[in-house]
Amino acid sequence: VGVSLRDPRDVVARKRDGGAVPEPDLRAFVLAYAKGEIGDDLAAAFLMAAYIRGLSAEETLVLTRAMVDSGRTVALDGISRPTVDKHSTGGVADGVTLVFAPVAAAMGLAVAKLSGRGLGHTGGTLDKLESIPGLRTDLTPEEVRRQVEAVGCAVAAQSADLVPADGKLYALRDATATVASVPLIAASVMSKKLAVGTDLILLDVKAGSGAFMKTVEDAMRLGRACSDLAAGWGRVARVAVTDMSQPLGEAVGNALDVAEAVELLSGGGQGRLRELTLLFAARGAEVLLGLDPGAARSEAEAAISSGRALQTFARMVEAQGGDPRVAEDPWAVLPRAPVVRPLESDRDGVLAAVEAEEIGRASVDLGAGRRRKGDPVDPATGIVFRGRIGDRLERGAPIGEVHARTEDAAGAAARRVLDALTVGDGPVEPPPLVHGWMDAAPHGDRP
Ligand code: URA
Repeated sequence: VGVSLRDPRDVVARKRDGGAVPEPDLRAFVLAYAKGEIGDDLAAAFLMAAYIRGLSAEETLVLTRAMVDSGRTVALDGISRPTVDKHSTGGVADGVTLVFAPVAAAMGLAVAKLSGRGLGHTGGTLDKLESIPGLRTDLTPEEVRRQVEAVGCAVAAQSADLVPADGKLYALRDATATVASVPLIAASVMSKKLAVGTDLILLDVKAGSGAFMKTVEDAMRLGRACSDLAAGWGRVARVAVTDMSQPLGEAVGNALDVAEAVELLSGGGQGRLRELTLLFAARGAEVLLGLDPGAARSEAEAAISSGRALQTFARMVEAQGGDPRVAEDPWAVLPRAPVVRPLESDRDGVLAAVEAEEIGRASVDLGAGRRRKGDPVDPATGIVFRGRIGDRLERGAPIGEVHARTEDAAGAAARRVLDALTVGDGPVEPPPLVHGWMDAAPHGDRP
């Protein structure tokens, strides 16, 4: 702080014209926006300029550092277990965190995590969790620390205390079509990870039709930008580029995702959401507990089959003010949409491709996401989609459900989902779940 900005429009003009913004000016701009001294108008103009012109690695670092420094940080030294954080760059039916946090905690790790809200066509962990009546995510750094020690996991939001600059920029990007940018995503994700002092950061960088990065190559660039930030900060990270060419789980909404997470934590379900969650939990145990891959995998499975992960989930919900009965009987406490309409295939054939972003958008338009900054989300609405690439579909056979406020809205969403599917004749290989891992070894101290 302590840097004065002569005229913040100069920062926007510099980026608009493709120039590099000097460190003190970019830093002062971000801190002034976080404090409300610069309005959404100028900040939106800056975001669009950065989206179109890009940011250099140096500018991305300066932006990230200013975002971290806009608030307080969560120190975790003295916590009695190894600490881990995990983050996804955003996808459709990507409820990994809801399952990962209690599984990892039940394996003897401590999970401290700042999550995000729905962004663009993607769902957000905070919106999903807040569909549980009473649950709050605006935890103070002290509350995060206490809960991590007592329960083993905490999932919190950006707030006036914690990375406020990301809280504001994130909502503004959502409202201004400036989300899908490598430097803006890297700075947003990593500001939340660098503000919390965990021993390990696990990143899930999504690639495909439901991700912001549509190709594996672009996802690798994003993964590299994130891991460079981690390494420069002296932090240990493991970065996976994973498939988002179709929804990961089945639920594309908020309460629907919580119910799916409870089912997985109760030992039900065998799909890709469960598999990816177990992969991340096992990787955390390999790095932090020194387990070999086979033992780490068995421990992750045992955390679920023993019921310990589900119990931990209930304790986390309760610690954050939510109704813990959600872990026993989710629909006794979660809000339900008034209209639930079955989704039936309109064709015979093999599911060859899914326009997952369109399914995410259809869910947003049912109310599960925001159209304007600050809009509330509808916790009850959304889509359940059970089709998987390579499945044989039969005309008239159920492939999911639409949960809506009105029959009209349900009909429109069902049409959009069916139009988002490519159905062919021949057999189709399902895509791999993980495209690859990259490691970040720390090579410096916090800059
Ligand atoms: N997740 C984040 O936290 N930020 C982004 O910009 C995208 C995904």
